[in-house]
Amino acid sequence: VHSLRTFLSRDVSPNIREWDKGGGLPQHIYEQMARLGLFGICIPEQLGGAGYDYLTLGIVCEELERVDSSLRVIMSVHVGLNSLGLLQWGSKEQQQRFLIPQASGVRLGAFALSEPDAGSDVSAIRTSARRSNKNYVLNGEKMWISLATKADHFLVFARVSREHEPGKQLSAFVVERTMPGLSAGDIDHKLGVRAGSTGWLHLDDVRVPQSNRLGLEGEGFRIAMSCLDNGRYTVAAGSTGLIKACLEASIDYSRTRETFGKQISSHQLIKKKIADMSKWYEISRLLYHRAGELKNLGTRNTRETSVAKWYATEKAVSAADSAIQIHGAYGYSDEFPVERYFRNARGATIYEGTSEIHSLIQAQYALGERIDKPLRKELPPYVDSVWRGSK
Ligand code: CAA
Repeated sequence: VHSLRTFLSRDVSPNIREWDKGGGLPQHIYEQMARLGLFGICIPEQLGGAGYDYLTLGIVCEELERVDSSLRVIMSVHVGLNSLGLLQWGSKEQQQRFLIPQASGVRLGAFALSEPDAGSDVSAIRTSARRSNKNYVLNGEKMWISLATKADHFLVFARVSREHEPGKQLSAFVVERTMPGLSAGDIDHKLGVRAGSTGWLHLDDVRVPQSNRLGLEGEGFRIAMSCLDNGRYTVAAGSTGLIKACLEASIDYSRTRETFGKQISSHQLIKKKIADMSKWYEISRLLYHRAGELKNLGTRNTRETSVAKWYATEKAVSAADSAIQIHGAYGYSDEFPVERYFRNARGATIYEGTSEIHSLIQAQYALGERIDKPLRKELPPYVDSVWRGSK
């Protein structure tokens, strides 16, 4: 955490306002994150990672988003949605080819599930994968893809059909940037996370070898959902950091600003907002730590991760709103970071499962309508001596 905080305070914080305005992080930030070992933070050492546990991944995400959401989004996509998916579902050969270079930060991974007409409703995906000899031929469009123009490998979800046997089920494929027929572009003019990279992919007869299919044919929906269990965890942890940033900015400002002859921190209505932010931070932190502990044990955590993501993202929006109110008119300008926090917070209640999807998931668990079934492959539990060698 010490070297991470040094990197953030020395190299990111002084520049993030400009990068947010300019619409992107410079390449050297990706390289510095790779050098710090963040891109393989919770991947075992023998697979190129740093060998830390899932809780460490959460703490890293919290620290990153305390500075800017764009940095945490890289972790959500590269580690949460892609690399942990390869760790869970990839064959040994796929882990050698894709996971090791990703964990060591040589290659960047991304996750391509959403489409122009398929977001919450994953089963509406139209991208097709037609089987042809030892290949699949992929056609379709993916939208709202973080790192679309940056990543080297994409986990693409498509509907498999065989000739004379149109199929309906989803399968997952690792599509490589260099494969002919794959094109990508950026989506500009977003409300928030402007230093982050969001874009689209177009797949036009992309030939993907069978050896790039992750899991079994038809297993794509379950793979996507289990990847989201990890992505959502990083979003929950990151949003916790965003709440902390709002709290810290509000404490600083309320101690310097005076109204009616005293610091505004001594007004009870300001204290109430600060107390709420502090409570939201503590609860969000406990919720994502619980999910992280379950991941460490190798226990299914869909329910706990979903409630952590739902709560922390909603409260990050509320905290940023309160922080702006405490800053008054200054909070409404970009002179202070809280307007960026507000814009950044908003997207997280939409991506990786809208708040509405999470409330449905929670209601189904509470009513006994959703019961988790064992998966063919679970994410491995964290064992220090195995993941970090004999250190
Ligand atoms: N892990 C593994 N398997 C799972 C699972 C999980 N977490 N959740 C469900 N499954 C399995 C079920 O066991 C079931 O398996 P069987 O077919 O063997 O029975 C199968 O998947 C279907 O599950 P459900 O019946 O629960 O599916 P559903 O249709 O009722 O509900 C949903 C699905 C909860 C609505 C789901 O579609 C969902 O979460 N939608 C939101 C999608 C989402 O988060 N999109 C975000 C896009 S990615 C993104 O934002 C990233 C970015 O780059 C910004």
